Amino acid sequence: MCGIIGYCGKKASSEVLLEGLKRLEYRGYDSSGICVDSPEGFKIIKKTGKLKNLLSIVPERPFGHNGIGHTRWATHGGVTDANAHPHTDCTGKISIVHNGIIENYETLRRLLKEKGHTFKSDTDTEVIAHLIESCYKGNLTKAVLEALSLLKGTYGLVVMHQDHPDVLVGARNGSPLIMGIGDGEMFLASDAAAIISYTKQVIYLKDGEVVTVTPDGFQTVDLDEKAVEKDIDVVEWEAEAYEKGKYPYFMLKEIYEQSKSIQRGMNGRIDMELATGHLGGLNMTPEELLKVERVVIIAAGTSYHAGLVAALLLENLARIPAHAEIASEIRYRNPIIEKNTLYFAISQSGETADTLYAMRELQRKGARVLGICNVVGSTIARESDGGVYIHSGPEIAVASTKAFTSQLTAMYIFTLIMARLRSMSYEDGSEFIKELTAVPAKIEKIFRNVENINIIAKKYCHTESFLFLGRGLNYPVAMEGALKLKEISYIHAEGFSAAEIKHGPIALINERTPSLFLVPDDRLHDKIISNMKEVKSRGGKIIAVAVENDEAVKGIADDVIEIPRASEYMYPFLMSIPLQFLAYYAALELGRDVDQPNNLAKSVTVE
Ligand code: F6R
Repeated sequence: MCGIIGYCGKKASSEVLLEGLKRLEYRGYDSSGICVDSPEGFKIIKKTGKLKNLLSIVPERPFGHNGIGHTRWATHGGVTDANAHPHTDCTGKISIVHNGIIENYETLRRLLKEKGHTFKSDTDTEVIAHLIESCYKGNLTKAVLEALSLLKGTYGLVVMHQDHPDVLVGARNGSPLIMGIGDGEMFLASDAAAIISYTKQVIYLKDGEVVTVTPDGFQTVDLDEKAVEKDIDVVEWEAEAYEKGKYPYFMLKEIYEQSKSIQRGMNGRIDMELATGHLGGLNMTPEELLKVERVVIIAAGTSYHAGLVAALLLENLARIPAHAEIASEIRYRNPIIEKNTLYFAISQSGETADTLYAMRELQRKGARVLGICNVVGSTIARESDGGVYIHSGPEIAVASTKAFTSQLTAMYIFTLIMARLRSMSYEDGSEFIKELTAVPAKIEKIFRNVENINIIAKKYCHTESFLFLGRGLNYPVAMEGALKLKEISYIHAEGFSAAEIKHGPIALINERTPSLFLVPDDRLHDKIISNMKEVKSRGGKIIAVAVENDEAVKGIADDVIEIPRASEYMYPFLMSIPLQFLAYYAALELGRDVDQPNNLAKSVTVE
């Protein structure tokens, strides 16, 4: 969602801020702005729309060495220039950028107005600037701390004050903020992407921490002003990992990265000799794992779909009752925490509010929750009781692709561990490993025939509605395919169990509503063929993703996307790749903004 960048050092801050904002675009936003110091006072420039609108009005000669910048995804107050950040107090000497939501802002705003403060925007953020103004007695950090004590809600924020030209004050509660350490320069940002081209040395702030930054150092305190020692981390990825490179879109780059990212997720985690897996971060002994009687997975969106596949796999192979639930639902239905149930929170960003708050609620009730995250140092990764990084590398496109298959990889290895602790034989474990480790090469094979998918996407992308149909492990994959198509091409799409359509959705079938069937050569193959015939006989067009040379499928489908043959458990990997390409090419053909679709944000940090 919103993005933050703050800079103090020797460089022209506007350049650093604009470069940072460019790298934060992927989070999704509808306006942007910067504030930089200058001898005549703060220069604040903000504009609705894409960053290029802001760039077009920033003067060529950059001013000042201190500054803050922001990309806003509107929550309180419409998408207007006035509501874009940064926001200032009455004196114009205090400037602030903020991510998160201040829940008591209406009360505070009323009280501040009664005291004579005048507001220029409809945002909750502006309240913070005025609060700091009313608390300020010469020490910016103290004023920020006092203001924070009056706030209810979430924030990641950075503040600057004209009387302290070399100082930035940052604070975090529920919205990520990291500090980047350079040589005679310091950065504050909502994520590493914003600062990676300047420094790889970072400090992850925790909730309730406030940091005062100058070009040469920093001081971190808690909300009671007690000093807090911080460790410096090094970002795992090079700057190129955050760039498009030779690809026109991040999404395409990330789809193509999957053979490598899946491999990376397996590195060091497969034990060929014992035919099992190894996930050190789980923080659980084999004895503890053996006591697990149920697995519950919580997640949102694409991560939820990965959770659905994982739950089916765990039941199938490890014979442990398992299910996946939408995180936002579990939190508010007062879930029963059973003894010996193990919970997983799956989240690419590790910051999704729905998943994070659900995890906290489960933990509060005594559950052990393991995190499956991509972003190192993210809140879910830090607050979970153990877990696994999926190592898929920075995922910048709003539509999640490589994170999905990497989440599957981690959960497949977990399933292997659980299955081998229980009834899975050594031979079956070895076979599973053989199949899993063969997935990257099979994905490479799919990459060799994407032109066919491009042609199919062009043929069907002018349709208004699409059905995605699968069964078993591929039913969640069908849901994921539908999500991918709708979010980036805006074509209405729904995923169903192929068997279920005759109970309702088949009413939608006509020549303008194509159905995409996922047809692995497993025990449900013939059943799916029957479902295809049901659609065909009602005049529906059929696209099938099927294994090479499946003549039965070819005889019915209007178009076929072929994938390599595999064991039935590996098809979720192989089926999802063509669906990602299909969505990508459809969106491209329709002229959509593939990486930053309408209304969406990469990391949804509000409920
Ligand atoms: C879809 C997509 C979203 C996310 C969802 C959860 O392409 O990206 O549906 O999967 O917002 O995000 P994370 O995994 O970061 O918790």
